[in-house]
Amino acid sequence: MNLAVSTGAPFSAILGVGGYRPRRVVDNAEICTYIDSSDEWIRTRSGIIERRWAAEDETVQMMSVGAARRAMERAGVEPGQIDTVIVSTVTHLYQTPAVATTIASELGATGAAAFDISAACAGFCYGTAMADSFVRTGASKYVLIIGVERLSDMTNKHDRSTAFLFADGAGAAVIGPSDQPGIGPVVWGSDGEQAPLIQQTEPWDRVLGKADAAGPHWPTFRMDGNPVFKWAAYTMSKTAAEALDAAGVSPDDLDVFVPHQANMRITDAMFRALKLPEKVVVGRDIAYQGNTSAASIPLAIETLLDSGEAKSGQTCLIIGFGAGLVYAGQVIVLP
Ligand SMILES: CC(C)(COP(=O)(O)OP(=O)(O)OC[C@H]1O[C@@H](n2cnc3c(N)ncnc32)[C@H](O)[C@@H]1OP(=O)(O)O)[C@@H](O)C(=O)NCCC(=O)NCCS
Repeated sequence: MNLAVSTGAPFSAILGVGGYRPRRVVDNAEICTYIDSSDEWIRTRSGIIERRWAAEDETVQMMSVGAARRAMERAGVEPGQIDTVIVSTVTHLYQTPAVATTIASELGATGAAAFDISAACAGFCYGTAMADSFVRTGASKYVLIIGVERLSDMTNKHDRSTAFLFADGAGAAVIGPSDQPGIGPVVWGSDGEQAPLIQQTEPWDRVLGKADAAGPHWPTFRMDGNPVFKWAAYTMSKTAAEALDAAGVSPDDLDVFVPHQANMRITDAMFRALKLPEKVVVGRDIAYQGNTSAASIPLAIETLLDSGEAKSGQTCLIIGFGAGLVYAGQVIVLP
């Protein structure tokens, strides 16, 4: 028996992006009240000048809805047209249900398929790859992808390797049908052998005191910064080069480069390894946002578009990498 199969649009594209940045700005001087460090060390080793930490009312849901509304407005897509909502987060504090379903309801994307993914700092690129496939196979027409984190909830403010890096925010994109190719092939993967390099300190049964005598305590994310730095700067440059190749875009043809905002020195190392020409505009949002994990790429894209540094229709290489370890990169056309 021949089953009917769905068919979708010839191509997909990002139709609009939007961000939500928490109100409270936390400068390096404040960070240095929690850890033994200095403004100069933080700026030179990470490129971070300040970051934003969410207030109580700036929940994962609230920040997501804010970012999504901006993305939908810019895309010219009504909430009722969104048929799929994908939320990438590692800081939604409910194990279940997914936050995507309540975000869809609050937005008015009534009845949309909705689910969360856990792909850490690669989450936006994982979601973009899924949305591209959904639109081209006809599983979806308009997909809302949101990267959102409240990393401040999961950060030990006295840990010198993470306290100055992690931050909060949300970034969203609407992906829908297009007459022209707007999302290149994804190059993605994982390396579970290196999972311990970035992880929650303990699983829930232990932090709740079930499995040991320590009693309930709050888990945070720990990271072995140096090996992660080397993996990101060297291995991820090769992945980024493969994503360019897969899209048939040469470094000279590229207009914009927006890697996950993990560390300015990682961005610089990738830029050099890829041999990108100086004319390529680079996302450097980390200076004022810190590392917002799944939110960092859409936030950085929004900054470049709003400032006029990058323009609609330009080619942009995005690459996300983080806890898992997981990674994904692709070339997109900016909305
Ligand atoms: C965290 C990170 C900025 C640390 O930078 P680094 O150059 O690797 O630093 P190291 O851990 O090797 O430490 C270098 C020195 O700085 C010191 N140091 C470490 N943290 C410090 C801090 N917060 N303030 C001041 N000094 C610090 C160390 O004690 C060490 O001193 P020593 O040379 O006297 O022994 C960097 O490793 C990084 O960005 N890693 C990847 C982050 C990332 O991408 N994470 C997530 C992927 S999503």
